[in-house]
Amino acid sequence: MNLASLLYAPFGNNIVIGPHIRRQLEHLRDALPPSFLDRRMDDLGCGDGRVTVLLEDVFQPAGLRGFDISPALVRKARNRGVDAEVLDLECDMPGGELAVLWGVLHHLSDPRSCLRRVRDNYDLVCVREPLSGPSRVCFELGSPLVENELAALLSDSLPGAQVLGCRDCLFALLDGSDESSARPAFHPAHRETVPA
Ligand SMILES: C[S@@+](CC[C@H](N)C(=O)[O-])C[C@H]1O[C@@H](n2cnc3c(N)ncnc32)[C@H](O)[C@@H]1O
Repeated sequence: MNLASLLYAPFGNNIVIGPHIRRQLEHLRDALPPSFLDRRMDDLGCGDGRVTVLLEDVFQPAGLRGFDISPALVRKARNRGVDAEVLDLECDMPGGELAVLWGVLHHLSDPRSCLRRVRDNYDLVCVREPLSGPSRVCFELGSPLVENELAALLSDSLPGAQVLGCRDCLFALLDGSDESSARPAFHPAHRETVPA
């Protein structure tokens, strides 16, 4: 287990859900194609489940599971009613309809290979990653990438994904069943922003 997972374990991932997380969730709700709704959803790196239940409200899934490397966080997620299991995403990858990775990639030693396995094992993928940089509000542990690096990682590893900016994070939405998903590459100048 990595250092961040150990540090999160006693108190959970989010002592409170900050306004930036709520803003990002609303941005996702507005941007989400209908094909992502009512699916069997796996929250990969669910942590303590606090964000999982907010994601449940956004995706309205037909079923929900959570996976995390930390047994202590999995226990907390279960206490919130999430059907959670301990799993190391760098070794094992579940499969199904919809995978959501909210703030997990920057904790992995090989995020590229993880994304490749997610793409192989799921029909739909939603990734949200915080941005690093002097102007970013980033309280998350791990090693967040700067915008251009993260956009390149997401575009290269999830070809056809829609990459959307939301001020202090990027989203990638991939619908593998959408044959017409050859979208233009993300460019920071095209980033969508939302008011504070
Ligand atoms: C920034 S936290 C995000 C947690 C949750 N998605 C949230 O937003 O509250 C990153 C999570 O990834 C988990 N994690 C890190 N490495 C992992 C791995 N190899 N396999 C599974 N989970 C991992 C950590 O334990 C931690 O709960």
